[in-house]
Amino acid sequence: FSGLKAEAFAQKEEQRCQYNFQSRASYKVAVLGAAGGIGQPLALLIKMSPLVSSLHLYDIANVKGVAADLNHCNTPAQVFDFTGASELANCLKDVDVVVIPAGVLRKPGMTRDDLFNINANIVKGLVEAVADNCPDAFIHIISNPVIFLFRRTLSANSTVPIAAEVLKQKGVYDPKKLFGVTTPDIVRENTFIAQKKNLRLVDVDVPMIGGHAGITILPLLSKTKPSTAFTDEEVQELTVRIQNAGTEVIEAKAGAGSATLSMAVKLGRNCVEALISSDLNGLNEYEQKALEALKPELKASIEKGIAYAQKET
Ligand code: NAI
Repeated sequence: FSGLKAEAFAQKEEQRCQYNFQSRASYKVAVLGAAGGIGQPLALLIKMSPLVSSLHLYDIANVKGVAADLNHCNTPAQVFDFTGASELANCLKDVDVVVIPAGVLRKPGMTRDDLFNINANIVKGLVEAVADNCPDAFIHIISNPVIFLFRRTLSANSTVPIAAEVLKQKGVYDPKKLFGVTTPDIVRENTFIAQKKNLRLVDVDVPMIGGHAGITILPLLSKTKPSTAFTDEEVQELTVRIQNAGTEVIEAKAGAGSATLSMAVKLGRNCVEALISSDLNGLNEYEQKALEALKPELKASIEKGIAYAQKET
């Protein structure tokens, strides 16, 4: 291209992109807990999506400024703020996708049970409002009721069952529209494996099964794409690092927050139309043993969530 031609081409391309942006933007998304460490960067990622026309930010405080800031970004989604319980129903009206990172971090004097109860109660209350105001929405649960250090963790493994129970009680449960967000674990495993084996990051794809806490996170390294050989030591080292990655960030932030920047959310159009589960055939001995070890812990976390939701009704 000559300079002029290139400029004309760039202008046309920009017009085409803008047209596509505007004609495709149609989804309404709500983030509950939007002023927090997760909520803010997540809201920015959603604001950048060409599929989103309207972004509703809800929190119990400090969300006005986040919305004002995001509204200056040159993408089509309009951002609206909603503060406090009296504005929650309005925030959720006609929303297609709800993402929930609301919660409180552990404060001095709080026991783990206190923290579990507080955060479980926040998730329960928010999901009740979702059931009442936008029962057909996709629901993504990010909130962990408890962060236990040193690999003993109860987490979104319990909040998703709480949400499921609430939706069942309200008669609007659709398992194809309720998600626990574990994307950070997958993002991390691909990053760590690419670094360790000197692979191109874009090529790396490693299936993961289990939950979102400690040993319930199980990367299936034997199924790494592109096909890659690992020594036993590498498998052990990478698996433990992936399982502890959240704790690595919490410790590095020295109590000032959790992992908030290595995340993303992907959606289909109507619901989960097919379950693309990891192939559990052909697990090696290490993975088979790890799978058996995670089952009781995952089951206990799920039962804890269900018991909480049933006790509170
Ligand atoms: P944060 O403390 O920075 O933000 C939480 C936000 O929730 C605050 O703005 C707070 O005002 C708000 N909030 C509290 N009660 C609320 C209520 N009733 N309604 C609406 N909003 C409410 O915490 P951060 O770092 O954003 O983490 C949020 C949650 O996400 C934590 O439970 C954390 O453990 C979890 N997490 C989950 C990950 C995942 O991959 N699933 C990864 C990292 C953290």
